[in-house]
Amino acid sequence: MKESEIVLDIIKRRRSVRRFDGATIPKEAMEQILEAGRWAPSGANAQPWRFVVVTQKEKLSAISDFCYYKLFKSRHVGEAGAAVVICADPEAGSKTYTIDAAIAGTNMTLMATSLGIGSCWIGAFREEKLKELLHIPAELKIIALIAFGYEVGKASVPPRLPLSSIAHYETYDAENEPGIITKKKSSGPFSVFGKLLRVLFNRR
Ligand SMILES: Cc1cc2nc3c(=O)[nH]c(=O)nc-3n(C[C@H](O)[C@H](O)[C@H](O)COP(=O)(O)O)c2cc1C
Repeated sequence: MKESEIVLDIIKRRRSVRRFDGATIPKEAMEQILEAGRWAPSGANAQPWRFVVVTQKEKLSAISDFCYYKLFKSRHVGEAGAAVVICADPEAGSKTYTIDAAIAGTNMTLMATSLGIGSCWIGAFREEKLKELLHIPAELKIIALIAFGYEVGKASVPPRLPLSSIAHYETYDAENEPGIITKKKSSGPFSVFGKLLRVLFNRR
């Protein structure tokens, strides 16, 4: 395979894995994953990221308790071999610290794929609880949490919009809009019920 084909193959094979076998990730593999994060680009090369690697089972299980969206808990975090919490320092010298940290995370998931390790980006987490558990300094912002581990089964491939409807050459062609940019806010009894639950359980 040509180098470009290898890169695209890894990008396309990366999936959000939500079933892990709980096996530990070898230290060398974890270091390669972190190294891929370290080499991410960042605004003004500020490198605002800090990575907290969690491998202890009890901690992973505690973290999964802080990861949920509405009533959906991210149980897979508790079954992962490791989780990496990506923090960023807003004062590190780059206004783009959130983007920088996200690129570092992306590099990590791609390296993991190349090593046969599954990953899942978790956006739904309770920042304060995570900070408390992991003793993360108050001035840092948690940008992402990524679960890593060995996959059980095979995650399905969520479709992507065709390139022809998202890529524009020279000027933006509004005629060719896929029509999903402005998602309608849900309304009706279920959204009211959801809001009520969030208020009652203080969930984001
Ligand atoms: C910023 C971000 C936040 C996400 N949050 C969650 C999450 O909280 N829980 C989860 O199971 N998946 C989460 N995902 C995974 C997405 O659902 C997934 O990337 C998307 O469905 C496409 O599937 P794929 O990653 O297998 O291509 C998140 C992905 C991103 C990029």
